[in-house]
Amino acid sequence: MQDLDRYLNEQQARHEDELCALLRIPSISAGGAHQAAIRQAAEWVANRLRRLGLPAELLETSSNPVVYAASPPVAGAPTVLVYGHYDVQPPDPLDEWLSPPFEPARRDGNIYARGATDDKGQLLTHIQSAEAWLQTAGRLPVQLKFLIEGAEETGSAGLDEFVAQESRRLACDVVVISDSSQFAPGQPAITYGLKGLAYFELRLTGPHQDLHSGSFGGAVTNPVNCAAHMMASLMNKSGKIRVPGFYDDVVPLTKRERRQLAALPFDESEFMQQIGVDGVTGERGYTTLERRWARPTCDINGIWGGYQGDGAKTVLPAKAGVKFSFRLVPNQDPAQIAQALEAYLASQCPPGIRMELTCMHSAPGIVVPLDSPYMQAATRAIEQGFGRAPVFTREGGSIPVVNLFRAQLGVDTLLLGWGLDDDNAHSPNEKFSLLDFQRGTKASAHLWSELGQITVGDR
Ligand code: BES
Ligand code: ZN
Repeated sequence: MQDLDRYLNEQQARHEDELCALLRIPSISAGGAHQAAIRQAAEWVANRLRRLGLPAELLETSSNPVVYAASPPVAGAPTVLVYGHYDVQPPDPLDEWLSPPFEPARRDGNIYARGATDDKGQLLTHIQSAEAWLQTAGRLPVQLKFLIEGAEETGSAGLDEFVAQESRRLACDVVVISDSSQFAPGQPAITYGLKGLAYFELRLTGPHQDLHSGSFGGAVTNPVNCAAHMMASLMNKSGKIRVPGFYDDVVPLTKRERRQLAALPFDESEFMQQIGVDGVTGERGYTTLERRWARPTCDINGIWGGYQGDGAKTVLPAKAGVKFSFRLVPNQDPAQIAQALEAYLASQCPPGIRMELTCMHSAPGIVVPLDSPYMQAATRAIEQGFGRAPVFTREGGSIPVVNLFRAQLGVDTLLLGWGLDDDNAHSPNEKFSLLDFQRGTKASAHLWSELGQITVGDR
């Protein structure tokens, strides 16, 4: 392992340059206008894997191509599926970036660019660690199968059919994903729970064109007023979601888990400072960490309609629209939620308004078992890579494929996040710490040897 660590130290500058090369590709999956960059990023990842001597392929799905490569099987040792995503979120709002989102810039020990932490920097750590093994030992202690997709940020469209079709090729004993965060700088974490998601677009149409708000207002239902009412009706003052049946399948937090979450060194005032607010709110009766990690939530993601230009315009708009989403917890069924929501919103929709509700994508939440030999191996590997034992956390984000791996391949996932909460994922000035890039790579290199010590039967 000393050879490996030494090798990784020597390669750090090259690793950083390679990360920059991948970050320069604007592989935005939302909106579908960046197809060339999507393909370029997929090719880049495939070529990077080929440089390890692995026969990487681009496999087509109904959405963006998936990059796949496998190393040879290792008798008696586990097969590990490494998942990551090469697609990124749109960079907007552009004018808030201190350096352009697709021109990676090194500042104060970080690399700034869209995708730095989510997920290009994190996914590369596993490719680099595999390369380090091959360069120093000439072999890998486990079989690695890499599956790097390109539509995660838009809900992993097409991946369910892909995983179902390719289940033999993807067969493995455990999945590893680095696409989440540490608990705090230098305090690594293993994430054992992710939220699910149900994402909707609501379109409301009133009169066949915009009207004078003096002549018609008060007598004709205003679609923007109506959108505001309907959205306000989704939650009560205690932060409870009012869609009937919404909480039916929610598994309550146990006393034990509440104690464990409360024991984490979470500083609420630091948290507020980090995001620039002077107070926090949420579902009554729950702590901030419980709200963020283990309780369902509802957020408007965008809302539009009416006059947005300079000055004032007295208009009664003909249309309004809202994008909004629920983060779900394990055991809530997104399809049932969608049905209950549609019925509830229809009951709130006044005469004179036509409502169209579309579910754009959804995924259930998940909790993975903590008591497996794989978890223990990951714990030891992180300790070696970061010099500190991980804490166990849940997260509010979603990685839809984790459920697919459980349902279709029958395997659980190790969620080993090297990022930080203040890495600005999905926001301006996304970054990834170059030290975490290196520590993550080292932890990953140790992970292959720790997992290699677990004996499994031949498949
Ligand atoms: N890397 C995130 C998931 C994540 C976020 C994990 C925060 C832990 C903490 C992932 O790329 C992501 O953002 N996923 C989307 C999925 C959605 C579009 C289905 C998300 O959570 O919004
Ligand atoms: Zn991600």
